[in-house]
Amino acid sequence: MKFSVKVAKTSSKQGPCCVIGAFQAEDLTGLAGEIDALTGGALKKRFECGDFEGEKEETLVIFDPPGLNCDRLLVVGYGKSDQTDTMRYRTACATVAKKLRSMKVRSATVWMLGDEVANCDMGAKAKHLVEAMEDAVYEYSHDGKKTKRRDISVALAVKNKQEADNAGEGVKRGSAVNAGVNLARNLADLPANICTPTYLARQATGLQKKYPIKSRILNESEMKKLGMGSLLSVSRGSRQPAKLIIMEYSGGKKSQRPVVLVGKGLTFDAGGISLKPAAKMDEMKYDMCGAASVFGALTAAAEMKLALNIVGIVPSSENLPDGEANKPGDVVTSMSGKTIEILNTDAEGRLILCDALTYAERFKPQAVIDIATLTGACVVALGHHASGMMSNDQDLADEIIDAGNKSLDRVWQLPLWEDYQSQLDSNFADMANIGGPAAGAITAGCFLSRFAGSFKWGHIDIAGTAWRSGGKEKGATGRVVPLLSQFLIDRVK
Ligand code: BES
Ligand code: MN
Ligand code: ZN
Repeated sequence: MKFSVKVAKTSSKQGPCCVIGAFQAEDLTGLAGEIDALTGGALKKRFECGDFEGEKEETLVIFDPPGLNCDRLLVVGYGKSDQTDTMRYRTACATVAKKLRSMKVRSATVWMLGDEVANCDMGAKAKHLVEAMEDAVYEYSHDGKKTKRRDISVALAVKNKQEADNAGEGVKRGSAVNAGVNLARNLADLPANICTPTYLARQATGLQKKYPIKSRILNESEMKKLGMGSLLSVSRGSRQPAKLIIMEYSGGKKSQRPVVLVGKGLTFDAGGISLKPAAKMDEMKYDMCGAASVFGALTAAAEMKLALNIVGIVPSSENLPDGEANKPGDVVTSMSGKTIEILNTDAEGRLILCDALTYAERFKPQAVIDIATLTGACVVALGHHASGMMSNDQDLADEIIDAGNKSLDRVWQLPLWEDYQSQLDSNFADMANIGGPAAGAITAGCFLSRFAGSFKWGHIDIAGTAWRSGGKEKGATGRVVPLLSQFLIDRVK
């Protein structure tokens, strides 16, 4: 979709389709009321006849509406009350996008920025609208090329220059986030026979061509020299060589310490010798969604030209059973020097992330955030709406929570109390890689925290939020690109 902002009057020419939102209320308020008056009550009549009630996700099309200079009037419901919240507003925007596509309209004038949304100014409304509309019409592409389907041009109508400036800012940011989300979704949706660690590494080179991002790829022998014994133990059981992908976006002053984003890039997780059950195992191609969100966040930051230094680190590998693969009981030595007893080879994410976290130290980061589809336990705890978040610094945790609330890409904090650490005790190494069935998302966080002692660190477990399983909806969501983008925007200040 292509978005623009224009200053207009409801009585001026609207083109093929004019779009408004309406509340499920007795009286038509705000813009809906204004439009209704122009049409001489045509809209009110549809309410009275019961053709349209303004319910959530409900739409109404009036062809050649009297008194309006357009071919169609599309009305979308916001649901009850005279003010909507961000979630319902986004739902209405998504409904509009899908409807425009099914109506095969090429361009539309959307008046929804005039409606009240709780806690949202004009810029935030525009950003949410642009993100929700684009999200609703995402299409997977096997070769990374755009589909034949024509782009819909959406003009966001506002009433004055001031509103237009504010909305324009929101559209810019929303479009930047969309570029990141689309990249992340598409990378994640690719099958694992295409999207290998080598393929991901090539994506980094692609970003370098398009944006001021420098990328560097470490191969297995270079990682071996660095002592990344934990990471390399995971890739040993795979024919695909592991890669450590490092990307640097330098929008800030040279002296500014970078924000480091670390993303789990398991391009396929069969579990290794601790083999996963067959059902839904295909979904483990999504085990690189943390990596995808790092690519996405860097893309969004570069699109916005943020005055910030950002480093993306993606450890990437497969996890497969093989004669060379990790065996339960094996002990490996991480880059930090700490030894790890591998009690379950399926807890491999933390094994590759710990060496990437140690590697992050050299950038003297102002903060490190790792993003990973780390535990099924997190899905059990929080389901598919909130990502799990843990941190060793409450100020950083609060910043992440705030970014999540603003972007509606929300997290819920889990405790990283000392009490949980002993679940990782091992008789044969400094720590075990699993902490038993209790509090699995937290003990995974505890494991990582042991490699994040020298910086402010946050960990986001996106196992429940990064993709939707089964049915028509199946596919990557692009989370947590919106959260990370908001976090980075706020870090500039
Ligand atoms: N990639 C999985 C986590 C996962 C599971 C994400 C299901 C999304 C849906 C991770 O590598 C894993 O297998 N974790 C194990 C850890 C356990 C062995 C301690 C898990 O959650 O079962
Ligand atoms: Mn696993
Ligand atoms: Zn995994």
